[in-house]
Amino acid sequence: MKNVISEKLSMLDQTHLLKYIKELSEVQQNKLINQIENLDFSVLDEVGTEEKRGHIEPLYAMTLKEIDENKKRYTDIGVQAIKEGKVGAVLLAGGQGSRLGFDKPKGMFDIGVNKNLYIFECLINNLLDVVKQTGAWIPLFIMTSEQNDRDTREFLEKHNYFGYSSDNVIFFVQEQLPTVDTNGKLMLADKGVVSTAPNGNGGWYASLVRSGVLKILKDNKIEWLNVFAVDNVLQRIADPCFIGAVIDSDMESGAKVVAKADPQERVGVMCLEDGKPSIVEYYEMTPEMIERREPDGTLSYNYGVILNYLFKIKNLNSIIDARLPLHKAFKKIQCIDENGVMVFPDEPNAYKYETLALDMVKLQKNCLAYEVERNKEFAPVKNKTGVDSVDTARELLMANGVDI
Ligand code: UTP
Repeated sequence: MKNVISEKLSMLDQTHLLKYIKELSEVQQNKLINQIENLDFSVLDEVGTEEKRGHIEPLYAMTLKEIDENKKRYTDIGVQAIKEGKVGAVLLAGGQGSRLGFDKPKGMFDIGVNKNLYIFECLINNLLDVVKQTGAWIPLFIMTSEQNDRDTREFLEKHNYFGYSSDNVIFFVQEQLPTVDTNGKLMLADKGVVSTAPNGNGGWYASLVRSGVLKILKDNKIEWLNVFAVDNVLQRIADPCFIGAVIDSDMESGAKVVAKADPQERVGVMCLEDGKPSIVEYYEMTPEMIERREPDGTLSYNYGVILNYLFKIKNLNSIIDARLPLHKAFKKIQCIDENGVMVFPDEPNAYKYETLALDMVKLQKNCLAYEVERNKEFAPVKNKTGVDSVDTARELLMANGVDI
């Protein structure tokens, strides 16, 4: 087996991964060989490639006003779907949260001021509002990563799932992808371990299926999954009005969106790409697109996504084998250097590769962009201070009457 692996690495110009193999015990050697055997080398094909975008046009969004006018009807439809057990929620919690600089899973961060209030607790409190409203438990699937799975499970168990029914909490672990240095080389996290990182939030459905969770979805006749990020503490999860609006519009998917704070805001916005719903990143937009307005004066590309999507499971199954584009992020990645010394970089030194949940939108026939009020539903905790930080999230929590 060792020979097959070294031949493969030689073909890929990655033989340095075996540089320290002789220093390892037999068990460690076998572990390394096994890891390399199962490694996804596709990241090496991606080095230097960029995704080509199609023809971009504005996409209709359901505005706050329209939602308000139909609120009762949408809510009734959503409540009914939840009561019938058709809706599950998927918490994407496999990220590394490197910008926050907190060495535990982001959900374990205490956002409280006068009392403890963990991010996981905020999210569960928000979901419990819907449990109270509908009288039904919503199955909560939590995606973790190899790195944070144990901490996440132990923390939630220790805190009694913050009042959620443990029977309705199902964990699954996402996949990893190797990291690549600036010379196109895979890296060693240790002498016997290839460096890998979570493969992004776009792999959630494939990971869920691989973990055997699909059977739970089928057995429970769940039809819709509401996918959401761990770091928006004002996130409304399994929101009946949103679910009802998507069902009522006969759409395959929905995305919660917020109106841009100003034309230049750096957010990905909903659009049509070659006739399909899609998201165009701020840096992909031309100045004309940024300033373009509709006859009523609103920006044509006005609605930013907040990582809260509703997907119909039936359609997800039909796109399970679709390959999502890999996006690379330049990060500080600890590794073993060519002298066998562990390096803790102060500056980004390598790429990690991720697929993104937003790219799943493009695989849907249609998607309802559903506007929500930014100040009520969007308080992302990305950074320690400044924009989208612990400070801004605390202010927004207080403004919404949350006791922190
Ligand atoms: P971010 O894009 O903010 O990434 O994740 P991150 O890794 O958490 O944070 P930084 O960039 O290192 O600071 C958005 C959402 O997607 C989840 C995160 O947990 C968060 O809920 N995510 C991200 C995953 O579940 N898996 C991943 O591999 C990446």
